[in-house]
Amino acid sequence: MSNGKLQQITLFSNQPLDNVKEIVNEFGEKIIRVDGEIPAGLPVKDGDRFLFISYDQSILTHGLHKYPAKFFPKLPRWLIKRYSKEGDTVLDPFSGSGTTNIEALLTKRHSIGIDVDPFSRYLSKIKITPLDEKELQSAQKYLLRCILNYKPSKVLKKDIPIFPYRDNWVNREIILELAYLKKTIESLNTSDDIKDFFRICFSSVIRAVSNADDNCTRTVIRKKLNKKVYPADALKKFTGVPREKELRLAA
Ligand SMILES: C[S@@+](CC[C@H](N)C(=O)[O-])C[C@H]1O[C@@H](n2cnc3c(N)ncnc32)[C@H](O)[C@@H]1O
Repeated sequence: MSNGKLQQITLFSNQPLDNVKEIVNEFGEKIIRVDGEIPAGLPVKDGDRFLFISYDQSILTHGLHKYPAKFFPKLPRWLIKRYSKEGDTVLDPFSGSGTTNIEALLTKRHSIGIDVDPFSRYLSKIKITPLDEKELQSAQKYLLRCILNYKPSKVLKKDIPIFPYRDNWVNREIILELAYLKKTIESLNTSDDIKDFFRICFSSVIRAVSNADDNCTRTVIRKKLNKKVYPADALKKFTGVPREKELRLAA
């Protein structure tokens, strides 16, 4: 690889790999660029440097909820295929949002995820738990019906949580919408797995509709707010209705 010429990368069997190329970066360094799926048999030598281009970071449940420093799914998929076989057990001792566990499931391996953070364990469990499709659809219909019938007056004082600086973090209309969504999810007459799924969907919209800066990893409010949040945004985000579209709520 270091004889000055760029080489076609081949598998151990000498079969050429179309999506793997040796490139030279702006500093003149050779890098192996892999576009898409990483072949299990990709040759790796000491000192090799890779650029992996990934296109499926949000497929299936991978995209559910933010989590710091998530793997791109192709990375654990590659390592699982490379170093284990179907029926084996894969361990991720810092499993975070469960990317490795999802990939283990998809590649027919058992898996164990360990994480010190209870939220990580909760999120991972939700991402790998199969749900009953009919039950899920009927819960979804129920939630939509309730959301379409939303009125601020349906939210009682006891539905609104108290926490420090609440009214700075979240606008009043949004607090009411979030409280209503939470209450509606809790009122679902379904299995805990379905409720947990909607609880995590609910959690995933909170930051976007709060006054927190979306571009900062830490949760902070800028003195001069750099985003606008409008009434109905929490309901729209939760249901997946784009902001430009109207959600026809009860008068
Ligand atoms: C970068 S995240 C892993 C992200 C994961 N690869 C994914 O795709 O979502 C690192 C994780 O290690 C966990 N962690 C840190 N120290 C730990 C410890 N001593 N024991 C268990 N988990 C730990 C953190 O809670 C965090 O979830």
